[in-house]
Parts: sequence; C-alpha cells; structure tokens
Amino acid sequence: QKDGFKHFMLKEIFEQPKVIRDCLTGRIQKGRVVLPELDALNVPQRLTVVACGTSYHAGLWAKYLLESWARIPVQVEIASEFRYRDSVFLPGDLVLTISQSGETADTLAAIRIAREAGVPILGLCNVVGSSIARESDAVVYTQAGPEISVASTKAMCSQMVLLLLMTLSWGVRKGVLQGEILERCLHDLPLLPDQLEAELPTIREKAKTLSQEYADARSFFFLGRGQNFPLALEGALKLKEISYIHAEGYAAGEMKHGPIALIDQHFPTFAMALGDELLQKVASNLQEVQARGGRIIALVNPGASPAVENPWVLSDAWGPLKSFLVLPAVQLFAYEMAVYLGKDVDQPRNLAKSVTVE
Ligand code: M6R
Repeated sequence: QKDGFKHFMLKEIFEQPKVIRDCLTGRIQKGRVVLPELDALNVPQRLTVVACGTSYHAGLWAKYLLESWARIPVQVEIASEFRYRDSVFLPGDLVLTISQSGETADTLAAIRIAREAGVPILGLCNVVGSSIARESDAVVYTQAGPEISVASTKAMCSQMVLLLLMTLSWGVRKGVLQGEILERCLHDLPLLPDQLEAELPTIREKAKTLSQEYADARSFFFLGRGQNFPLALEGALKLKEISYIHAEGYAAGEMKHGPIALIDQHFPTFAMALGDELLQKVASNLQEVQARGGRIIALVNPGASPAVENPWVLSDAWGPLKSFLVLPAVQLFAYEMAVYLGKDVDQPRNLAKSVTVE
C-alpha cells in the first residue's frame, strides 16, 4: 500500500503532482473554470471559512486570493472558536467549511450553527459521503484520494487547488476578474504537476541535509508574509506534530512585537523569502534575526535570495502558484526531521487522524 515508500506521509507528499492533476481534470475547459457544484449558490457577498488544523491553514491561504481576485470579504475561523462565539451573519453570507475527513466534530458543529442561522453552507471535503459533505448545501470534493498519514499533506494541496479554482470562478461570475491574471493562472496551473514532479526529489534531498544540520534545535520559528504566512503556520504545525520540536509560525512583520526576544543561536528560523513583492520586507525582518545571532533557513527563488546562512532555492512559479512548491518543502523538512530523530512519522503520539470529539 505504501508503494515502496517508507511511510504513508512520504507517499502522500509525492502524490501531490497527481493530486493537482486530478483536481484540475475537467475543471478547466476552453479557458474557463468549470465548477458546476457552485452553480446553485449565489456568489457570496461575504465568506466565512471555518476549519481546523491544516484545513484552517488552507482557508487562510485562500483569503488572500479571494479578497484580491474575487473582491469577496473573507473571515477565516477556527471551528472550535467559531462554534462558541455569537457570530453575526448578514444577507448574502456563505459559510465554507474545509475538511479532509469530513468528520471533524468542531467543523460539523459550525455547519449546524450556520444552518440554524439560515446561512447557506458549502463544504470542501475529501471523503465522499462524509458527515460534513452530507450536511452541506453544496459540496466540492477535493479528489486527493485516501490520506492515511495523521499528518495531513496532499489534502492541503488539493484544497488549495480547489480554493484557487473557486476564486477564479467567483471572480469571473462577479465580473471583477478577467484579462492577464485569469489567463496566466489558467495557463500555468496545468503545468504545475510536471514541474512539481521534477522538483520533488531535489526538495527531498535538501530537506534531508538541512534537517540533519538543525536536528539539535529545540525550537523553530517559521516566518512568512502574505500568502506565505499560512504556509509558515503549516510548516510549524507539521514540524511539531511529527518531530515534537516546538515551532511557532509567525507573520514575519510581527516578530518585532515580542517574539524576536527569543532569538539566539539555538533558536533557528525557517523563512519563506520567495521572489514576490514582499521579499524586501521579509529580507529586512531576516536581517533583524541575524543581528541577534539567529540561524536561518530561507526558501528562496533563483536570483532573489537575501543573504542568509542557508538559502534553499526552489524553482520559480507564477504568483500564488509558488505556494505549491513551498508546501512540499515544509512538509519534507518536517518529515526528514522526524525520520532522523526516529519518531513514529505516520502515527505521532497523542494524535488521531479524524478528531470526532471536541
Ligand atoms: O479532517 P480535517 O481536515 O477536518 O482535519 C482537521 C485537522 O484535524 C487536521 O488538519 C490536523 O491538524 C492534521 N493532523 C494536521 O496535519
């Protein structure tokens, strides 16, 4: 079942090119996004995304796109908080729940709250026929295939693809998205699986080398700005979940508001310093870290690296598609670290695959 891979987690990370292909199949036709699942719903005037864990990070990642490309105001909520708050709903609202398993208790509870309030519910789910799928008004399936490893990897990749397609679909329907962004995105998305397939072995090798170099760290910062901020949160979650190393994901600009006090040579930083419009801002945050003796690994694009101890060069992709190369890098870093430290990668202590209790 592991197809020659040592762990399910590794197999699932390496399945991501196929996952992207499967998610796109039939959904881009003649230069248009085809998502008939959305047809029965109005384009939301306001979107509340509710999820837990890795699925929550996918929602946070999508917020940047939905606001910028589809001009939809978005709030992203942790389900266990949302369910006990007294949220205000407005006409035109839509609740979008994201869940790999479709059985997460807090996310399911959020659906029931939305239903009580008369708000339509869209589910983004991997498991066909799951509770969340059944209780939503409309469902988009992520088609990632079964995910066995407790640490979620390919599910997030599939959620990001579908959230991107939803953004394009709603942006076009609203009449706020056309021209270069749309064309470029639809052109480049189908090229992504081949690029990722070619890159994954190199990413893994680098992850192995760096994890060994940093294996004595007891704490890590993961820093990013913009869409790399949710990926920083995800990198930190993966590392703590399977290697049991304390890690915090932070918006890079927030460091100076307190956390930078923790930095010394024993508290390394894993930064996302990709060649985007926020690179200079991240680079200056990293200078602050270095000035305090902090060691840095930074994911960078060719020709656009800040001066850090360990630049980790990823091949480039257009705009938000860069994230699909960042994601496996943080996943493989956590994976290789856990393997090196001799941890039980697929069954980390204290964790279950589906959290069906509060
Ligand atoms: O099945 P779900 O997507 O609703 O699960 C949500 C979280 O429990 C899940 O993502 C969890 O955080 C993973 N173990 C992360 O790797």
